[in-house]
Amino acid sequence: QDNKFQAIISHAKEYGFVFPSSEIYDGLSAVYDYGPYGSELKKNIRDYWWKSMTQLHDNIVGIDAAIFMHPTTWKASGHVDNFSDPMIDNKDSKKRYRVDHLIEAFADKLTEGGKEQEAEALLAEMERLLAKEDFTALKQLIEDNKISCSVSGTVNWTEIRQFNLMFDTKLGSVAGDAETIYLRPETAQGIFVNFLNVQKTARMKVPFGIAQTGKAFRNEIVARQFIFRMREFEQMEMQFFVRPGTEGEWYQYWKDARLKWHLSLGIDPAKYRFHDHVKLAHYAKEACDIEFNFPIGFKEVEGIHSRSDFDLTQHQQYSRKKMQYFDTDLNEEGKPYGNYVPYVIETSIGLDRMFLLILSNAYNEETLTKEDGSTDSRVVLNLPAKLAPVKLAVLPLTKKDGLPEIAKELVDSCKPFFRCFYEEKDAIGKRYRRQDAIGTPFCVTIDHQTKEDQTVTIRYRDSMTQERIHIDKIKDLVLKETF
Ligand code: GAP
Repeated sequence: QDNKFQAIISHAKEYGFVFPSSEIYDGLSAVYDYGPYGSELKKNIRDYWWKSMTQLHDNIVGIDAAIFMHPTTWKASGHVDNFSDPMIDNKDSKKRYRVDHLIEAFADKLTEGGKEQEAEALLAEMERLLAKEDFTALKQLIEDNKISCSVSGTVNWTEIRQFNLMFDTKLGSVAGDAETIYLRPETAQGIFVNFLNVQKTARMKVPFGIAQTGKAFRNEIVARQFIFRMREFEQMEMQFFVRPGTEGEWYQYWKDARLKWHLSLGIDPAKYRFHDHVKLAHYAKEACDIEFNFPIGFKEVEGIHSRSDFDLTQHQQYSRKKMQYFDTDLNEEGKPYGNYVPYVIETSIGLDRMFLLILSNAYNEETLTKEDGSTDSRVVLNLPAKLAPVKLAVLPLTKKDGLPEIAKELVDSCKPFFRCFYEEKDAIGKRYRRQDAIGTPFCVTIDHQTKEDQTVTIRYRDSMTQERIHIDKIKDLVLKETF
C-alpha cells in the first residue's frame, strides 16, 4: 500500500500534477504547488463541486470572501481559545507530534501487521480520551503501547500540551502599531459574517445555503502524507441555514446528498464510509466524516457538521449586530412572526484531499498482453472524463502529407469547448502512453485515409479499443462524454 502511495507521489511529480513547494530550495514541509495538469484537474474538481452546489441547487448562492478577517472574528468563532491540538514532544530528538497522528500512525502499523482488532481498540480508546481531554491517560496510553517514532526503542516524551493551529501575521507597517491578524483556518467564518449581506441582497429565504471555495491555513504538525495534510490548502464549504428544530432532518439530507455527489463520479461505493465523531469540534453539536479508502487506509475527506446557532450567536454577541432572520413564512403558516438566529448545517471538503482521492482512485499500473502473447505494461489514470485535465489528444500519424494541417483544424474547432492537446512527435504508441499517464479519455489519430474519406481513428483510454468515425462527429462525442 505504501508503495502505491509512493508511486502516486512520483507520478504526480513526473507528469506535472503536483510539485513540492519551492523545490529548488529543498521544498517547504507540507506545502505543495500544482503543475500544468494538476492545476487543471484541481480546477475541474472545484468547478464540479461549485456547479452542483450553486447552479444545480435551487437555494444556494456563492461568495468569495477575503482570507484576512477582522481579528475579533476568530475570538468570536472560538478559534483563538479552542482551535488547538494536543501535541507531545520527543525530548531526545526535539521533534513534536500531534498526539492523534502519532497514535494513528502506530495503529496503521498494527493493521499492516494483521492486528486489526488491536488497532481498532487503540483508536477507540484514543478517541475516548481525546474527547475527555484526559492528557495524563493519553500519555500513559502512548507509553504503555511503547509508541515511538524512532527505531531506537524507548522515547522520552514530554507532557501533552495544546498548541493553537492558526498562523498569525501583522497588519500595518509601524512595528508598535501593527495589529496581529490571522490567516483563516477555515473559510466558513467568511460566510457567517456575511450572512445578512447575502440573505438581503440575494433575497434568500430560510432554508438556504452559501457556498465558498478558497484557501485556508493551519500550522499542522505533519507526517509525510503528501497533499493529504497541508499547511496551506483549499476548502470547499457550504453553510446551510435552517429553522431551529429542523436541523436533524437537514443534517441527514446533507449526509445523503454529499455521499451521492461523491458516487456521481463513478467511484466504487465500497471505498466510502461514514464515521461519526466522538470528540466534537468546539462549534459542533453533531458531526461525521465521509471517509475514503486511500492507499494509506480509510481517512477523512469531508466533514458534515451540525453547528447549531453557535457561530451566528457568537458573532452577534461580539459585533453587537443582530444576526437574525425575519421568517415571514411562519406568519403565513398561521404561526406568529418569527425572528430567530438560524441553525446551520455545514458541508466542508478539502479540495486538495479530493484531488488526492481522485488521483489515487484513478491510478492504475496495468499489464497488457499483446497479440503475439508477449506482455507490456502501462500506467493509466482512469479519471472521470469530466474531470480529466485534457479531454482530447489529436495526433497526426506523420509530420507530412498535410496530416498536421487536418489535425490542427480539428483542434481549432474543438478548443473553444474543451481542453485539447496536439502532438506530432514520437511513435503513436508512445504518444498514447503519455496521454494514458495524464488521464486523457480520447485520442484521435489522423492518417492518410482521413484525406480520402474524412474518417479518423478514435482510441478510448480505458478499454484501449479503437474505431473509425467521421471527423465531424468528434467534437460532439467528446462533449457528450465530458460535460
Ligand atoms: N469549517 C469546518 C472545517 O474546517 P475540518 O474538519 O477542520 O472542518 C474540513 O476541515 C475539511 O478540510 C476536511 O475534511 C479536509 O478535507 C480538509 N482539511 C482540513 N485540514 C486540512 C489540511 N491540513 N490539509 C488538507 N486538507 C485539510
